[in-house]
Formats: sequence, structure tokens, C-alpha cells
Amino acid sequence: MGGWLPGLNGRSPLRIGVVGAGFIGVVHAQAARRAGASIVGVAASTPSSTKEAVEVLGAERAFADGESLVTSSDIDVVHICTPNQLHAPLAELAIAAGKHVICEKPLALDLLSATDLRSSAERAGIVATVPFVYRFYPLVREIRARVAAGSRPLRLIHGTYLQDWLSTEEDDNWRVDAAFAGPSRAFADIGSHWCDLVEFVTGDRLAAVCAELVIALPERRTSGGHVHAFSSGTESGGTPRVVTTEDVAIVMFRTVAGVRGSVVISQISSGRKNRLFLEITDAEATMAFDQEQPETLWIGRRRTSEIVQRDPAYLDPAAAPYARVPPGHPQGYQDCFDAFVADSYRAIEAGSADVVDGLPTFADGVRAALITEAVLRSASSHRWEDVDPSSEPNQMEGRP
Ligand SMILES: NC(=O)c1ccc[n+]([C@@H]2O[C@H](COP(=O)([O-])OP(=O)(O)OC[C@H]3O[C@@H](n4cnc5c(N)ncnc54)[C@H](O)[C@@H]3O)[C@@H](O)[C@H]2O)c1
Repeated sequence: MGGWLPGLNGRSPLRIGVVGAGFIGVVHAQAARRAGASIVGVAASTPSSTKEAVEVLGAERAFADGESLVTSSDIDVVHICTPNQLHAPLAELAIAAGKHVICEKPLALDLLSATDLRSSAERAGIVATVPFVYRFYPLVREIRARVAAGSRPLRLIHGTYLQDWLSTEEDDNWRVDAAFAGPSRAFADIGSHWCDLVEFVTGDRLAAVCAELVIALPERRTSGGHVHAFSSGTESGGTPRVVTTEDVAIVMFRTVAGVRGSVVISQISSGRKNRLFLEITDAEATMAFDQEQPETLWIGRRRTSEIVQRDPAYLDPAAAPYARVPPGHPQGYQDCFDAFVADSYRAIEAGSADVVDGLPTFADGVRAALITEAVLRSASSHRWEDVDPSSEPNQMEGRP
């Protein structure tokens, strides 16, 4: 990351369009504007919600639907921010029209569609990224740099990603419906972020998983109107409907390098809003990062422990540029998103995602789909399952 305004570096601003204008569509639009892009248009689910979105996003015009936006001749970059079932079809259309694509996770409802999407993007030679934005916390980059520079192998990786916004029967959202969200809910939605972060900071890969999925609320009561993510539920009453996707995922894993670990993923953990917590241990030290306290990194040692603050003067050169404001002036989630979008646009202007270190691409979206499928397989077989059964056996093969 070499600056915050790639669209203003002597070139005309990138022209972008946003499909879907709920929680994350607004976050994308704010990041796009800060990166110097011009927001040509938006498409939401109905004419009235699109009209409202034009105002909220400060877009130039409304599009009748997502399909017309992603193929429009005056748009360079498409941001896909809809419910999950629309990601793959809209992204395929956008790629066929020669657009660069920033597509929300999960890339598709199944592994095959995600893989096809990555192939289409590669063939078209466009830049295609996925917002695994927790990579963009400066202290996450710091952990990554320290792991890369360290000589001691990791011994343990564990953590959680806990939320509470789906913890009552009245909490309803399109994510609860497998037709919109896919066969995995909590794991595909937020577990994918945690696994991406682990693979990103360690440079290692999950090789096999042993998973248990829990549907804690087998029935929810829908009033017909879906609430947005992270808002409170609908009023009581409504029509009961059977829930088929998990509220909780408990996953043990081993990595290609042979490190063992576990993670608990939940959308029903009362009081936990967005607690993505990650802890990695080597022979001498433990590093712990909490997304809700992203300005500090805990490094524990047997004799003494320390708190590393987000001060660019003392961060690794790979982490320091992501510190946007001076230490003591907190930065957070939207800043991560701004940095991710700025880096995506930088890749677009350079003509390749390879020129930007740490940019999450469709290949990372496919990794998430692979891991999610392995978790689903393991939960149904009650056995350890390889993440990528088609790859070479890993060194721990046969040692569950
Ligand atoms: N990367 C991240 O950190 C992150 C965070 C939150 C959500 N997400 C992803 O973003 C996506 C959207 O999530 P959200 O929380 O914003 O959901 P949301 O319910 O708040 O918003 C979804 C939006 O899509 C619109 N929409 C529905 N059908 C549409 C259609 N046919 N055409 C155009 N627009 C349509 C809705 O009107 C709504 O505005 C999901 O795939 C989710 O996984 C990613």
C-alpha cells in the first residue's frame, strides 16, 4: 500500500458500480469514495430501495437491476454486495463483460461454482478480489511479519469468531435461509474469515478438519421482513420456519506443516458482537489478536509479556503503511475496508493482483469454499476430512 488515493494519481477516477446496498454495500461505497473512485450507479432489490441507495451511497444513478449494472459500458469495477446466491451469477456476467470484480464472500454457494468463477477471472485477465478485510489491520500484518521472520515452528493455533445477532428465535435474516446463503451459515459467513486470517498470518494451510455443527435454534419465527445483519430481531409472533444451517461450528484442524488447532464459530453467543480472536503459540511466545481491540497485540512469554501498540514507528515495514492515523487515535473495521479497496484499485491500475502484497483474491475465495466443504463433509461423516482431497497427501496423513 503506497498511498490512499490510487484513482487520483494522475489518472481519471475508476468508475464503479455497487450491487446490493445493505450493511456491506454502504461500507464498500464509503471505501470506494475514499480511494478516489466515482460511484456511477447502484442496484438494490427493488426500485424504491435502489432510489434510497442512490442517496445513501451518493451514486450518480439507479440501475434497474444487478444484471444491467454489471454489464454497463460506463463501469470499470463492479462491487457485488448482495445475498450470497447472487454472487456467482453476477460475477460471471461482470467478468464476461470485461469488468474488474470485488465480490463478497462466499464467492458462491458451492465449491464448483467458486472454482469456475476463479477460472473465468483468470481467463479474462481481470483483477478479482474478495473482502477478507481483517488482513488489513496493521497489527495483523505485524503478526504475519513476525511469524515469517521467526525461526521457531508454531505449536498451536486456536481461536473463536463469536457473534450474538442471531441468538433468539425472532432473529431472522436471509442468511438463515439456505436458498440464499448456502448449505453452511455460521462457518461460511464468519468461520471463513477466521480461517483466511490463520492461513494469511501463518503462511501455512489447513490440511484436514474434524467438525461438529450445532443448530441451537431449530426453529425461527419469521415475520416476512428480514432484518439486516447486526441489527436486532423482528417482533415476536410470525410464522415458524425450520432452520437447516448451523448456528455454531466447532472445528479441530491440523495444518500442512503439522500444527494442531481449533476454532469455535458462533452466531448465538450473547454479548459477543464480533469477537474474532486468534492466538498462535511457538516454543517461546504466544501472539494473540482480538478484532474488537485491534489497536494492540498481546505477546505472552513465560517470564514477562508485552503489549505491542499500533505505532508505525515501531511496526514492521510491511505493517506500518496500514497505520492510517497516529497511534492513540483508534482505527478499525472501516479503515481495513478502505485499505482493502484502495489495494484492489491499485492492483487494477497496475493490471495485476500480484503487484500488491496480501491482497485477497478469488483464489482465496476458493480456499474458503474448500475449507467450508470439508467442514460440512466432516460434520456429516463424523470423521476427519482432508480440506483438498485432490491434493498430495500431507505429512500428517493417517494421524488424526
Ligand atoms: N467481508 C465482510 O467483512 C462482510 C461483512 C458483512 C457482509 N458480507 C457479505 O456481504 C453480503 C451482503 O451482506 P449484508 O450484511 O450487507 O446483507 P444485507 O442484508 O444488509 O444487505 C443485502 C443487500 O442486498 C440487496 N439485494 C437483495 N437482492 C438483490 C438483488 N436481486 N439485486 C440487488 N440487490 C439485492 C438488499 O436490498 C440489501 O440491500 C453477504 O454475502 C455477506 O456474506 C461481508
